[in-house]
Amino acid sequence: MKFPLPDGRVAVVPSVLSADFTRLGAELRRVRPHSDWVQLDVMDGRFVPNISFGPHVGAAVARASGLPVDSHLMVERPNRLVDAFAASGSGLITVHYESLGALSAIRKIKALGLKAGLAVKPATPLAGPLRLLPLLDLFLVMTVEPGFGGQKFIRAMLPRVKAVRAAITKSGRPVWLQVDGGINADTAPLAVKAGADSLVAGSALFSAVNLVEFTRALKGSRGGR
Ligand code: DX5
Repeated sequence: MKFPLPDGRVAVVPSVLSADFTRLGAELRRVRPHSDWVQLDVMDGRFVPNISFGPHVGAAVARASGLPVDSHLMVERPNRLVDAFAASGSGLITVHYESLGALSAIRKIKALGLKAGLAVKPATPLAGPLRLLPLLDLFLVMTVEPGFGGQKFIRAMLPRVKAVRAAITKSGRPVWLQVDGGINADTAPLAVKAGADSLVAGSALFSAVNLVEFTRALKGSRGGR
């Protein structure tokens, strides 16, 4: 499915990791009307101390949600998984700068005609990752240590979001600035004010008492604009 381009809105992206997997189809149908795309948090138990799911779940999520899928590969060797997640229906695949072969994985994603994202962990200096900006369709600033949902938003990441926004603006290229980790009604406005335009939300979204209000609050995080 064709992946959307940044157009000034704030994109809300449910992280499937936090869905109720005993009724995944119903969960995806529930979030679909309020979401711009969905994210698969792929974990291999080596790059991060957790294991999540493979391309077969990605294919099921693409079918059940009817939304574009962004696969966030938190894996040691992303090159090994690009083809499988491309085949499972991901329209955008994000690899970590810290993983082995990240640049060749990005080149492979682009060669497959998909959108490419680059993610950075909280402690990784931005200079190196930002040199790859000309290749990217999305830049993901992690606002938690990758590996688990339900963590607390690291506010110290906000200057990094600002720096990446400045670099994207200077490049003049249509690159999503995504943040992922601890996004809720309180932290979303902080992230958007710093320059994020794609908000990944897992635990706060799937546990929201009123999903419509929650997602509307995230989309409206820009306030007056
Ligand atoms: C961490 C994951 C989480 C998840 C979002 O590796 O990437 O950040 O998607 O989970 P919440 O919204 O619960 O922090």
